[in-house]
Amino acid sequence: PAIPTIKNEPVKPFSHTEPVDWDLLRASLLRYTDNGSLDIPLVINGERIYGKDTSRTIETQINPGKLSQELATVTQASEEDIKLAIDAAKQAKLKWLNTPFVDRAAIFLKAADLISTKYRYDVLATTMLGQGKNVYQAEIDSVTELSDFFRFNVKYAQELYSTQPSETSAGVWNRVEYRPLEGFVYAVTPFNFTAIAANLIGAPALMGNTVVWKPSKYAALSNYLLYTILEEAGLPKGVINFVPGEPVLVTDTVLKDPEFSALHFTGSTKVFKNLYKKISDNVANDIYKDFPRIVGETGGKNFHVIHPSASLLHSALSTIRGAFEYQGQKCSATSILFAPKSIWEDFKTVLIESLNTIKPLNTSQPEGLNGFMGPVIHEASFNKITEAIEQAKNDPELTIISGGEYDKTKGYFIEPTILQTTNPNHPFLKTEFFGPLLTTYVYEDVNFEQILTQVNNNSQYGLTGSIFAKDRDAIRLAEEKLRYSAGNFYINDKSTGAVVGQQWFGGARASGTNDKAGSGNILSRFVSIRAIKENF
Ligand code: ALA
Repeated sequence: PAIPTIKNEPVKPFSHTEPVDWDLLRASLLRYTDNGSLDIPLVINGERIYGKDTSRTIETQINPGKLSQELATVTQASEEDIKLAIDAAKQAKLKWLNTPFVDRAAIFLKAADLISTKYRYDVLATTMLGQGKNVYQAEIDSVTELSDFFRFNVKYAQELYSTQPSETSAGVWNRVEYRPLEGFVYAVTPFNFTAIAANLIGAPALMGNTVVWKPSKYAALSNYLLYTILEEAGLPKGVINFVPGEPVLVTDTVLKDPEFSALHFTGSTKVFKNLYKKISDNVANDIYKDFPRIVGETGGKNFHVIHPSASLLHSALSTIRGAFEYQGQKCSATSILFAPKSIWEDFKTVLIESLNTIKPLNTSQPEGLNGFMGPVIHEASFNKITEAIEQAKNDPELTIISGGEYDKTKGYFIEPTILQTTNPNHPFLKTEFFGPLLTTYVYEDVNFEQILTQVNNNSQYGLTGSIFAKDRDAIRLAEEKLRYSAGNFYINDKSTGAVVGQQWFGGARASGTNDKAGSGNILSRFVSIRAIKENF
């Protein structure tokens, strides 16, 4: 069928010259803060189960920028609940499998429209409050990227379905059927992007699969809203089952089921490796009907390499944005910078001066959430990053050139912090901190090629990275030397901010399976092709 024209959802600028938008946003923020904590249930086969009415464990979601503010109670699934969610996914599959593509597609297209219109300010508010985003970061995640995923997946699915064998012989009709996987899909979704959660559940469901969804408890508010929007858009009961819970309990229960057919994951490399191992052990023990598909996007140690020919201002400001937008908590965030000695002093001045204009410890709400820096997500993250800062203060090979302060009296606030190391093999150039911490190494201009080799060899990761240069030979050399260092490689742009349909997103090495989100590639992982030959 002809589908509507699919275009990227425009980003609203949210400048102070748009009072109407701000009023709507304020009203939504107040709705989620002035009515007390919201009770978030499990949703299994469309039925809501509220922990407060039962003996189930309850976790709370607090505002990481205002620790006194509890946003939600999050019901935690018991082992029995998880089994029920698996059964619900299996049951719903029987009908969903035969639901025509247009009907599946319509649900996601309608959900995208609801998000970009009726619920725009609610998805923004829940993402801002719960996940500590400023309004712009929430907009490019929970509104535009999210609705783009739902819409572009429809376009890519249709392209995939219409791709058929081109060869035939006399009296034969060859065709392929893009079956959903035979069992169910397990989606494990992260706190840092509401849009990623949407794609992790939405891509398999669009292709006719049913899903058991373990959201992050740090994103429960926005993720539960997303579930209710999908429901309003017509998602049948049981197609996606929302089961927040203790991660090991949920995962172990799900992975034991013989009809587990795929993992769709975004999170840490450590957790992904652990899940990969559990799945392979179960495969070895003949637990599963299928060889499960494993699709994961994990950590990164994303680089900016500056060539002496680069535009100084553009590359320095891009570094600030890449490293510190959303407090460095994008999987794509810039965390290492290699700058040439000839321009370093001026480059450093731009970095320091621009960081001085950022109000880092911004605690007032809701207006505060339009500041550049918000909080990091939780105490464990705050501790990990601040311990690294303390370590840096005592390490003769590291100098703090900007930031270094932190304060958790009101929220988990850490200053954007830039370190410089004299050791090109320093562990800080290799370890992921997932926060507002950038480590810099200044190289002799003549060693540009050597530095590229070093960036390539030093990193176990391969997610994103950028070369800033005007010199075409330098760009060519970086493209060659850094071939496997970044699944998303940017030339004269920051390492963050991939747009659905424009920059297909994902990385290899320890960064994941490099199945590209925002492309048809990801959808092909959630179908199991049947080749059909018919003789006439
Ligand atoms: N897709 C997000 C980005 O590119 C993670 O920044």
